Amino acid sequence: MKPAIVNPSSPLHRPSERCVISRGPAETEALGEQFGRQAHSGLVIALSGELGAGKTQFVKGLARGLEVSGRVHSPTFTLVNEYSGGRLTLYHLDLYRLETRAQILSAGIEEYLQPAGVSVIEWAERIYDLPLAIPKLKCVYIEIVSDTERSISHDDIGA
Ligand SMILES: Nc1ncnc2c1ncn2[C@@H]1O[C@H](COP(=O)(O)OP(=O)(O)OP(=O)(O)O)[C@@H](O)[C@H]1O
Ligand SMILES: [Mg+2]
Repeated sequence: MKPAIVNPSSPLHRPSERCVISRGPAETEALGEQFGRQAHSGLVIALSGELGAGKTQFVKGLARGLEVSGRVHSPTFTLVNEYSGGRLTLYHLDLYRLETRAQILSAGIEEYLQPAGVSVIEWAERIYDLPLAIPKLKCVYIEIVSDTERSISHDDIGA
């Protein structure tokens, strides 16, 4: 299978015209929930956007859409938080603390790129230029517009 290598300088990785404006955290969650309801096993959702953009907020909605109960919070001291008991298992990764290519490649992320369930990755821009195979990928970009507004766009790459 041809690896879905993602290049940050490609036009695919700029917010497209298909962006929606979220006017508050609840709207970002609702969008995540919609993604969760439509998700199939094997899907990887790559979230990018600066600090406080709303990535974790999106994951909260995603978990709800997958009917996962339990409080969602970013994995801080581990690579991944696993939420089972929903329609599909959700693997929540956050690459914020993994700065170098070597750290990322040695962290064991590969096993979450073809998940038996759904993986969602915060700070996914950190893997865009790494040679990783991701067969079913959705890239979601969240941009801060104002205190309460976010511009959210996405691209499907084999998903
Ligand atoms: N439209 C919006 N969508 C999402 N979050 C919003 C919005 N407007 C305001 N916020 C606020 O922005 C913050 C987003 O925090 P969140 O933890 O989801 O960001 P993050 O992208 O995960 O940050 P980090 O990079 O630190 O992980 C929250 O405090 C939330 O209330
Ligand atoms: Mg976060």
